Amino acid sequence: MDCGTFASESRTAAGNDADTLGNFPMIETPRLVLRPFRLTDRGALSALLSDPEVMRFSVSGPKPCHDIVDGLEEWVANHRPTNPERWAVTLQTSDECLGFCGFSFHPVAGEWVWELGYRLLPAIWGQGFATEAAAACRDWFFATTRHDKFVLMIDPANVASARVADKIGARYEFDADCYGMPVGIYAVRRLANFT
Ligand SMILES: CC(C)(COP(=O)(O)OP(=O)(O)OC[C@H]1O[C@@H](n2cnc3c(N)ncnc32)[C@H](O)[C@@H]1OP(=O)(O)O)[C@@H](O)C(=O)NCCC(=O)NCCS
Repeated sequence: MDCGTFASESRTAAGNDADTLGNFPMIETPRLVLRPFRLTDRGALSALLSDPEVMRFSVSGPKPCHDIVDGLEEWVANHRPTNPERWAVTLQTSDECLGFCGFSFHPVAGEWVWELGYRLLPAIWGQGFATEAAAACRDWFFATTRHDKFVLMIDPANVASARVADKIGARYEFDADCYGMPVGIYAVRRLANFT
């Protein structure tokens, strides 16, 4: 798969400083631009994370608005050029945030690991966008960090997510408890042969 190119978004301090990121990796794929989150994505992120269908397999379920606002402020504040983190998923043709894809850090079976997560608005499901975004994040991760693996934590009933995982080269490793929810742990390893 053509997994995209990496660039960086450079913005100077002006106007709303809280929304100023310095250099941040942008990832381009044939159809998508993965860009940093901005505070102005609040409405889009609220629509995403309060949608019961999108949050069906989430440990926390749909999020209340204040959680989303706090979460967004934290994501924006933590932007660093080399941090594995979450990108806003947008189309090449529009800057509108349609979901997220990226990394967060979690304890799994006694080990802290980077986890890749993705959630997209239902309106764009079924067109290969999650696979395209996840593969691009995978390639960024191994090109930019020294880590040898990342994992995906997937509810056994979440066939769509398991299929995305499979398509980016993740392999099931074991079952675990993720904050009280049983999940399958899938790993993508640096030496895996991605096709
Ligand atoms: C999981 C999710 C990101 C997939 O997004 P998407 O853009 O529709 O995924 P893709 O189009 O890249 O599809 C990838 C594969 O999954 C398959 N797939 C997608 N939805 C499916 C479903 N509901 N049931 C079975 N397979 C499904 C696709 O057919 C495709 O496989 P194929 O190429 O062999 O046909 C999206 O459904 C979503 O946001 N779900 C809610 C959030 C979530 O569960 N996130 C994952 C948490 S671990």
